[in-house]
Amino acid sequence: MKLFTTFTICCLAMLFLYSPAIAEDPDTTFAGSQSCQSCHGGLYSDWQKSGHAYMLVRSEGANPPVYPELEIDMNVGGETFTVTPGVPEPPPGLEWEDIGWVSGGYFWKSRFIDNEGYLITGPNRQYNNAPGQWAAWGDEGTRAYNYNCFVCHTTGPSPDDPDGLFTDYPGLDGGSWAEAGVGCEACHGPSSFHVPAAGGEVGNFPPQLDGFQTCFYCHARAQNEKSEWRARTVNDVPTGFIRHREQGDMMLASTHYTGAIGMDCASCHDPHKSVVFDQGGIHTSCEDCHANYEIDIRDAAGDVIATKSASCVDCHMPYAMRSGTQFSPYEADVRGHYWRIITEPITMFENLDTTFTDDGSIAGLWIHIDDEGHSGLTLDYSCLSCHLDQDVEWASQFAVNMHDGITNVRLIAGETPHTYSLEQNYPNPFNPTTTINFSVREQGHATLTVYNSIGQKVESLVNEVVDAGQYSVTWDASEMSSGAYFYRLEVNGYALMKRMILIK
Ligand code: HEC
Ligand code: HEC
Ligand code: HEC
Ligand code: HEC
Ligand code: HEC
Ligand code: HEC
Ligand code: HEC
Ligand code: HEC
Repeated sequence: MKLFTTFTICCLAMLFLYSPAIAEDPDTTFAGSQSCQSCHGGLYSDWQKSGHAYMLVRSEGANPPVYPELEIDMNVGGETFTVTPGVPEPPPGLEWEDIGWVSGGYFWKSRFIDNEGYLITGPNRQYNNAPGQWAAWGDEGTRAYNYNCFVCHTTGPSPDDPDGLFTDYPGLDGGSWAEAGVGCEACHGPSSFHVPAAGGEVGNFPPQLDGFQTCFYCHARAQNEKSEWRARTVNDVPTGFIRHREQGDMMLASTHYTGAIGMDCASCHDPHKSVVFDQGGIHTSCEDCHANYEIDIRDAAGDVIATKSASCVDCHMPYAMRSGTQFSPYEADVRGHYWRIITEPITMFENLDTTFTDDGSIAGLWIHIDDEGHSGLTLDYSCLSCHLDQDVEWASQFAVNMHDGITNVRLIAGETPHTYSLEQNYPNPFNPTTTINFSVREQGHATLTVYNSIGQKVESLVNEVVDAGQYSVTWDASEMSSGAYFYRLEVNGYALMKRMILIK
């Protein structure tokens, strides 16, 4: 299929992920998220309420685009805003008839695409959902909404349009996509081979996903493997923010990724649920792994002068990235994903590496990365976002050893944090026995079930109430025939599944 081929060529990160699907069925196409609903109804309704479904929303005729009904209070810059998805009215001076699609509009901001596929730019051409204001985006005019833009905002994007789907839209520069928005198959790959209504068989499962690479493909800019930084001057505030959609670049420079347990985005995130509207999208919180979290603040002499109720993310994941707007010199609208706090008394501007072009002009300002490849945020973001009247010298005296002697936020040596996980069996391929490890965060009724390649249950390995902890189960498949099998763990509403191969 043309769509599929171009997609893999241009997206190196996904190439690796999608190759198993190619091996199984070279003709696989996109079946559409709707086609998953009949069997994965719960996941489908979670996804429908998440931002991924609303990356590109059709606005037909006089009808405004439709968003789910959600709301959340956001407290930034000392003010509370109620944020809801959607745009209350078309951009000033335009009608909904003039709009073909809205890009975004779920949480941070909306940009508008006309009926010919051009992005509309100029004063009042961007709507910032938080705090609900029109803002300028570029000079008055239009620009192509081409592949460079929609590659992360659609499912099955292609720089050209072999089937002539969008020939009436010159602004799309000849490009096309299979489904607007980040649908199920944007992450899972084209899956018609798994969907009976599209000519497939249920037993042909989509390939297993990597919980980092899958997200990294869109949530990263990854230039020079450093986070890109553009100092900006907004409202005459000489300040800078990290660009939005760089969570992946940041995590690359964090011990959460490089360290002992090698976490990925899915270690904390449920990929199907919204985080920004708090639909349960964070399934493992800081406290689940870092025990003991009362935070005392000491003066320079070591005496406790305050006990803080700030939550972990206030200091470790401040709003240091900017998508739609900024609320104060140190607070924008997207959270940092470094976790480490640099405690030296330096500001963000003293923590940059600059690269130059051949003619000596600045090519980029990057957040500094240390000799071990790690990075973090300075105290202006982590502390001054709330303590606006202070400076980094002030913050530094309290920040150094912030938790030392008071709380132990480190993992207890030798202990793995309890989370829900299902590991790859070993050996694999196997004959005839293999071992499966899994862990459970809280006590609950667990089932670990083996299915054959057409989805029929062949063995129940666990079906009982288990305590939080790590488990190991051996499966003896001497009665089974060679082939692919799936094992699925279900406990406390979590379901995880992996594939294994028996070769006799
Ligand atoms: C006719 C029913 C049916 C339809 C339609 C269907 N699935 Fe499935 N799917 C299943 C069953 C059954 C399983 C195995 C048990 C489970 O995980 O629920 C499964 C498993 C999966 C898995 C897990 C595979 C693994 O290795 O962990 C993924 C991913 C998946 N489906 C994605 C999709 C997507 C994406 C669509 C829509 C394009 C879809 N499914 C449509 C029935 C279906
Ligand atoms: C943003 C990327 C993304 C999107 C969009 C997405 N998934 Fe997933 N899905 C994943 C990842 C990653 C996993 C593996 C989860 C893990 O490792 O914890 C997964 C796991 C699954 C599983 C197996 C585990 C389970 O929870 O049962 C099924 C089935 C599934 N997805 C179906 C779907 C369907 C259906 C849709 C659309 C309604 C969808 N997914 C949309 C990334 C995505
Ligand atoms: C490399 C992938 C990628 C590309 C290319 C990209 N985006 Fe995005 N975009 C994202 C991600 C990921 C987010 C959400 C996460 C974040 O902002 O940190 C986002 C957020 C947005 C939002 C806010 C969505 C909302 O609901 O609030 C808009 C609007 C947007 N992008 C428009 C564009 C436009 C216009 C272009 C082309 C000029 C573009 N994007 C190119 C990945 C991308
Ligand atoms: C250690 C846990 C953890 C890991 C790992 C993690 N996140 Fe997050 N992420 C969070 C938490 C917690 C929030 C929400 C904080 C809040 O607003 O309450 C969040 C918020 C987000 C948001 C939206 C809200 C915002 O304000 O920025 C996006 C997008 C996101 N994460 C993407 C990613 C991606 C992509 C990865 C992998 C590269 C990742 N995250 C890895 C914990 C994590
Ligand atoms: C095909 C591109 C793409 C992939 C792959 C992708 N994202 Fe996103 N993601 C986006 C875009 C674009 C947005 C902005 C959508 C919006 O809010 O309107 C977004 C928004 C989000 C948000 C904030 C919106 C919400 O519902 O809370 C979170 C959290 C998030 N992504 C996490 C992830 C995780 C975790 C993965 C990997 C499992 C992932 N994303 C994979 C493109 C992608
Ligand atoms: C799944 C378990 C897990 C979760 C969830 C988790 N952490 Fe961690 N965290 C770890 C481990 C393990 C390390 C140590 C990694 C190493 O050095 O090998 C760590 C390290 C850190 C560090 C030191 C980073 C550095 O580069 O020096 C900080 C800060 C941190 N975590 C904060 C947080 C915050 C804040 C959250 C919640 C948003 C969180 N963690 C969620 C397991 C977790
Ligand atoms: C989410 C907002 C927030 C963040 C982020 C934050 N603080 Fe605070 N801090 C507070 C509040 C609220 C108080 C209580 C103020 C009071 O009682 O007058 C406080 C009190 C303090 C105090 C004692 C009272 C004082 O003003 O002398 C110190 C010291 C302090 N914080 C240091 C820090 C440091 C260091 C950081 C960064 C590592 C930090 N704070 C990050 C909100 C925050
Ligand atoms: C008031 C701001 C603030 C809050 C709230 C906060 N931290 Fe920290 N945390 C810091 C600072 C500053 C450091 C750096 C200390 C140093 O490097 O000397 C740090 C260091 C850490 C470290 C790594 C170093 C160590 O001491 O082990 C971890 C892990 C950590 N915090 C986890 C957490 C968790 C989990 C929470 C929530 C339960 C949390 N923090 C809440 C400011 C805060």
